[in-house]
Amino acid sequence: MNLMRTIREFPVPRGAVAMWWFGQNGYIFKSPEGTLAGVDLYLTDSCRALHQEVNLARRVPVLISPEDLDIDLFLCTHNHQDHTDPETIRNLRHKDTMRFIGPMPSCDVYRREGVESGRIQPAWPSCRIEERDLVLDGTFALPTDASDLNHMGYVLSFGGGPKIYVTGDTADHELVHSAAAHSPDVMITVINGGFNNLSHWEAARLAKVIKPRVAIPCHYDMFPDNSADPKLFRAALALNDVRGAYKELTHGEPFVFSR
Ligand SMILES: [Fe+2]
Repeated sequence: MNLMRTIREFPVPRGAVAMWWFGQNGYIFKSPEGTLAGVDLYLTDSCRALHQEVNLARRVPVLISPEDLDIDLFLCTHNHQDHTDPETIRNLRHKDTMRFIGPMPSCDVYRREGVESGRIQPAWPSCRIEERDLVLDGTFALPTDASDLNHMGYVLSFGGGPKIYVTGDTADHELVHSAAAHSPDVMITVINGGFNNLSHWEAARLAKVIKPRVAIPCHYDMFPDNSADPKLFRAALALNDVRGAYKELTHGEPFVFSR
């Protein structure tokens, strides 16, 4: 069975959330009512051509093609191509049944790639968006370079139950700590350190402030020249007294968290 169908048929108990990782910062989350939210789904190899001297050839297989992607909410955290991918958006077949949410530069890409204006909703740090049993709160993220100053993260809350914090690409800054006010149960954090993102150590220091029950590393797996060893994050959590939280996801395999 293809993965999109598996996800659509996957039962999520009350008080739980299911999630699947697609590499880099790409996830699909499913709520107990069956609401499907995708974050930063990079489903092509379009970044390969971005640089001559930086190897950005995709290493993780495309687990769902843009043509097969069938979710309710398509979220992006910022407008870099490994997060808001024009080629993924261009090739979506179900554009007319999804809502597209993200900071303004991502909204421009949605529009440019054929999404109707009525389906696009801007987001920013501290905004709140509700859809069925899902509540999204925008969080602060510090842009990692001057090319795009509209970075953000999200706290997603499922059926009044579990809350998941997705940091998005961010440099280290005390304002990022403000996500702790949402008391997320799960934190999904960049750890690669490259391109001015949080390093494994900075991510662990952030986890010490956020205090999640589960800390999941991401954004280290996709590109040969922007990778890191997630075990460094596991060690950094232990050295910062964040114990028992480390969780490494496997691409395409479900992880169910319940409170
Ligand atoms: Fe990125």
